[in-house]
Amino acid sequence: MRFDVLTLFPAIFEGYLGQSLLKKAIDAGLVSVQLHDIRNWSRDKHHKVDDRPFGGGPGMILQVEPVVESVEAVQAMTLETSAPQPGHLILLSPQGRKLDQKVVEELATRERLVLLCGRYEGFDHRVIEILQPDEISIGDYVLNGGEVAAMAVIDAVIRLVPGVLGDDASSAGDSFSSGNRLLEFAQYTRPREYRGHEVPEVLLNGNHEEIARWRREQSYLNTRQRRADLLNQPTTDTMPFDGPTQKE
Ligand code: 6GU
Repeated sequence: MRFDVLTLFPAIFEGYLGQSLLKKAIDAGLVSVQLHDIRNWSRDKHHKVDDRPFGGGPGMILQVEPVVESVEAVQAMTLETSAPQPGHLILLSPQGRKLDQKVVEELATRERLVLLCGRYEGFDHRVIEILQPDEISIGDYVLNGGEVAAMAVIDAVIRLVPGVLGDDASSAGDSFSSGNRLLEFAQYTRPREYRGHEVPEVLLNGNHEEIARWRREQSYLNTRQRRADLLNQPTTDTMPFDGPTQKE
């Protein structure tokens, strides 16, 4: 899967791209992430890409020409990876549809995602009129720019790329994934006791059927206590164990 990121701050991504899971996926050729500096498409000799808003007001607005032209140029690129053109264009914006695991699953079906990160007070609105991007927000709060949101999208999507997680891990049972809209059960490892806190006895008895039942139950109780809203989604598997049902 190929990602192209357009940003004014490509350096923000470098630490993240060198990190273990993503680095392994890149080294294995499963994922490719290309960074593009929007400033390279500036028409200004000082590489300026923003200007003051018409009508007045605080802050600076990203200009339409460098943004539209950088996206079009990147969408036309394939580089070494024969990535399909033009790719699915995402604009990270607090005004977008909210990212959840269902949206992540939908994005993971694409062969190529082009992620456009804004900064400052936003884009000239003609960027949106002309490019008609899929606008995505990662939640109801304001970030200083789209970069952290773009990393969240990449991080969530690559977990679903076949081969990225390896054999000993799987995204299938993840909370919120299509097979499981419940929260996780509690996990433990050695030691069996620490500062008086003991590992639940059921996990130590080797009865795998009983352990599986206990985990389904914990998952359901944890969800009911913390995120009861998830139990009311039509897609939620609300028959987690042979105990209470959704009504109770
Ligand atoms: Cl995608 N961008 C910004 N600037 N703020 C956000 C966001 C995105 N998602 C939530 N807040």
